[in-house]
Amino acid sequence: MGVKIIGYGFYVPNNVITNHDMEKWMDTSEEWIVERTGIKERHFVTVGEEGTSDLAVKAAKKALEKANISASDLDMIIAATLSPDYEIPGIGVLIQSKLEGCSLIPAYDIRQQCSGFVYGLELAATFIKSGKYKNVLLVGAEIQSVGLNISTNGRDLAVLFGDGAGAFVLTNSQDDSDIIDSVLHSEGQYYKALWKEYPSIYVRDRIRQEDIVFGRHYPAMNGRFVFKHASTRMPEVVMELLNKTGIDLEDIAQIIPHQANLRITNMIANRLGLSSDKIFSNIEKYGNTTAASIPIAFCEALEEKRFKRGDYIITVSFGSGFTWGANLIKF
Ligand code: ACO
Repeated sequence: MGVKIIGYGFYVPNNVITNHDMEKWMDTSEEWIVERTGIKERHFVTVGEEGTSDLAVKAAKKALEKANISASDLDMIIAATLSPDYEIPGIGVLIQSKLEGCSLIPAYDIRQQCSGFVYGLELAATFIKSGKYKNVLLVGAEIQSVGLNISTNGRDLAVLFGDGAGAFVLTNSQDDSDIIDSVLHSEGQYYKALWKEYPSIYVRDRIRQEDIVFGRHYPAMNGRFVFKHASTRMPEVVMELLNKTGIDLEDIAQIIPHQANLRITNMIANRLGLSSDKIFSNIEKYGNTTAASIPIAFCEALEEKRFKRGDYIITVSFGSGFTWGANLIKF
């Protein structure tokens, strides 16, 4: 049984936040942000107006329209996010409820942070290949903006992230397969290199006044450590996937990496010996949208004709956990 990508779409909130906006809120500069990250602007939700599931549903509707099927045709939802609307439940069920016409199908939430979509593709493909489910909606959606410390104290992370969602509709096929194979990894010993400690199950009521006072409810990152691992693991896993499948790097029309940082993307290109037209970047417009970055980049790369039907592409990601992986797609 093969797996076809029959629909894809993305959505970002209207509110564009430039680096000059960031300069008003913290001690930073357009030069610093562009030089270190390649980011020029990102999209933030207006707090209280949209939840992560709303972004997910908007992207999902575009993907369903492209696939020319309706929500009632879906057999399963897989939602990847680290920023669900609520602690309980996850956004999978909210998407099921907000997508009008969806029947009482299973709805998974997965959370591998920036690697969520790459992990989700492997999961969706495995379910479809097993014959258990036919039409699967895979969504990566994220609202990072409301959870960041938008001040000088949080500037290392605050300038990096943006909000958005991207979705694929996948279905079975008796003929060829779009999803050829995947390689996934994790290395949990480094979970503190990029994490958010509170709310925590180790604490009565999960958060204390002092945690808020000390800003422990904001994410924290060892930037250089993450940079080093991300720029090593992503090219490594691309080569592992190519070796596993017997495909040559020259046969890949486009590498679509998680949009973490332009310097990381350039490092992947250098380490693989690729020219910049073979690896896609749109980070300057959206920042790092975590689990949404790969489907958003996929849609824009296709729109820009970086690849076409029949081409091999690779999606590759690295994120908090650490988690990383890559998918070989013959689109
Ligand atoms: N504006 C201005 N100055 C800043 C900012 C900012 N937004 N953030 C940090 N600085 C300052 C620091 O305080 C430090 O000042 P100091 O020298 O006076 O102490 C100085 O800039 C250098 O800080 P470093 O952390 O050493 O800067 P670095 O060159 O490592 O760049 C960055 C920081 C951009 C975060 C980098 O480490 C990085 O890209 N890491 C990868 C992290 C990443 O992509 N995370 C995303 C999630 S994980 C993923 O998607 C793979």
